[in-house]
Amino acid sequence: MITGANSGLGKEAARQLALINNTEKIYLACRNMEKAKAAKAELIEETGRDIFEIIIMDVSDPGSVKNALKNLEEPVDALIMNAGGMGGKKPAEITGDGVTLLFASNMLGHVVLLESLLKDGKLNNVAMYAGSEGARGVPAMSMPRPELNGSSEDDFASIFDGTRFEEGFDQMIAYGYVKYGAAMWMASLARKYPKIRFVTMSPGFTKGTEAMGNLPPMKKFMFKYIMLPIVAPLRGMVHKLEVGAKRYVDAINDTSYESGVFYASKENTLTGPVVDQSTIFSDLKNERFQDNAYKAVHRFVSI
Ligand SMILES: NC(=O)c1ccc[n+]([C@@H]2O[C@H](COP(=O)([O-])OP(=O)(O)OC[C@H]3O[C@@H](n4cnc5c(N)ncnc54)[C@H](OP(=O)(O)O)[C@@H]3O)[C@@H](O)[C@H]2O)c1
Repeated sequence: MITGANSGLGKEAARQLALINNTEKIYLACRNMEKAKAAKAELIEETGRDIFEIIIMDVSDPGSVKNALKNLEEPVDALIMNAGGMGGKKPAEITGDGVTLLFASNMLGHVVLLESLLKDGKLNNVAMYAGSEGARGVPAMSMPRPELNGSSEDDFASIFDGTRFEEGFDQMIAYGYVKYGAAMWMASLARKYPKIRFVTMSPGFTKGTEAMGNLPPMKKFMFKYIMLPIVAPLRGMVHKLEVGAKRYVDAINDTSYESGVFYASKENTLTGPVVDQSTIFSDLKNERFQDNAYKAVHRFVSI
């Protein structure tokens, strides 16, 4: 099952997985039926395999995720939590669950999705979360390393409900903090469920997706017309869609990617081989911090 499978990395991962013979079925978990149908038709055409099933789910809305799961009869072998990104046009808006839309679309619904599957015994092997190098900081993109005074439960809650950014919400900075919280939640789950593999994998800086579409006009211009096509390729900092999505496929199929680890590009780069990010940012392996992220997210949702 892949969330956000109608475009960008999610759709390309679906394409690559369908080309593996023993993939029996792929659930395209999307929020928009029209877009999902268009993606499904393209995927069938490109792969020659009619193995895709649409599930309608808005991952910013726990109720929508719970409804979608009611119709899931069989367990899934692998879950790819890819939906999200920059949080749409109003990332700082507070949802009915008391969190920012940025957090809700990247993490809250995924918490409901993954933990419901686990609770119901409907996940057989592996869960992968789409992380980001922003979670350990990308100075070249003005994304500082998340700085939390002890990564307490309150610290994480302040990221999720946006109060941490009250003095000025910068979408890119808040995004890095949310992805940090998600990697920590995954690591905490890895210790709770030793029979399942939990991998946070960043796709790396990837061209050919819609990710920058909703940034404010100046940032969008900077990324779309300067950073992605000119600066990043010159510095070898960006790769093709196929390469970014291949990281997802490797994460679920290659069992040498260890449970509880957040993998992303090496320090000071956004592409190339992936490494355990705790070798760059040691907070990532602090089990108390990880459990604080888990507890903080459960202040906003019950499974
Ligand atoms: N591209 C990069 O360089 C990069 C780098 C690091 C991490 N990532 C991560 O990779 C993931 C995929 O991003 P992408 O670059 O492929 O961007 P994308 O092309 O914009 O794809 C995002 C997908 O998520 C879906 N989505 C967003 N909010 C949703 C919601 N509330 N419910 C259900 N689906 C939702 C979108 O659906 P709609 O079409 O309906 O909007 C779309 O299918 C994201 O988690 C992003 O943070 C990307």
